Amino acid sequence: MWEQVQQTADYIKAKTGLNPEYGVILGSGLGSFTDDINITHTLPYSEIPNFPVSTVQGHKGALVFGTIGDKQVVAMQGRFHFYEGYSMKEVTFPVRVMKHLGVSKLIVSNASGGVKDSYQVGSVVLINDHINMFPEHPLRGKNDERFGPRFLNMSEPYSKPMIAKAKSLAQDLGIEVQDGIYLGLQGPTFETISEYHMVKILGADCVGMSTVPEVIVARHMDIETFGISVITDMGNEENIETVSHEEVLEAARKAEPQVRSLIKALIQKY
Ligand code: HPA
Repeated sequence: MWEQVQQTADYIKAKTGLNPEYGVILGSGLGSFTDDINITHTLPYSEIPNFPVSTVQGHKGALVFGTIGDKQVVAMQGRFHFYEGYSMKEVTFPVRVMKHLGVSKLIVSNASGGVKDSYQVGSVVLINDHINMFPEHPLRGKNDERFGPRFLNMSEPYSKPMIAKAKSLAQDLGIEVQDGIYLGLQGPTFETISEYHMVKILGADCVGMSTVPEVIVARHMDIETFGISVITDMGNEENIETVSHEEVLEAARKAEPQVRSLIKALIQKY
């Protein structure tokens, strides 16, 4: 895989000539963050060698390059989900490529279902930790030490300094944020009432179908990582019955301006 990653990174470097410091992965309904980027290059996934192609409704598939203030960024507009049928190696391939492009900090966003009492639809959550319950692990198989270690320390997957900075920036911007633990499940079904209950019992605050694989692989390559989630539905007994993909997208879009400005500030100020 090392050679494939290098080949892809070389192709992108030749096209863009950039060395982005920040990588950003945009979740469902959060793709308009790219409007904040001074865009220099947009590479559709379909044109990038070795890249899988995104299929989900509401996800545009492109790598977007440019600057925010004086920082160079590369953003994934649309990500690859395990439930789409991609292997974990495919899901996380773009993160490997980002590292080879020079990325040292990764910001990951998602939409998730909330189970913490203080959350409501539209709450913005800074992910403090995760629980990995995906049925396949992105690091399973022979380890290539050029990427990172066989046995990866996961005591701080989400950078405490980045979380602290984001909190102070959120306060300056008048954006309400809460802490949370994200539990990753494969989907594509939303959780049953009993599964949401399980999520809560297991010690998580929100649940979704992404983020965990990308963060694991980012940490494998020692990329500093920050995760932000928008609560798009609440998984409590009273009001769980109607969650749909459209509602998730709509709720995420409502919180999008806040998430956008927070990520933008973090990139400029961290
Ligand atoms: N469960 C899983 N994934 C999600 C949810 C949810 O309730 N909401 C948005 N993504």
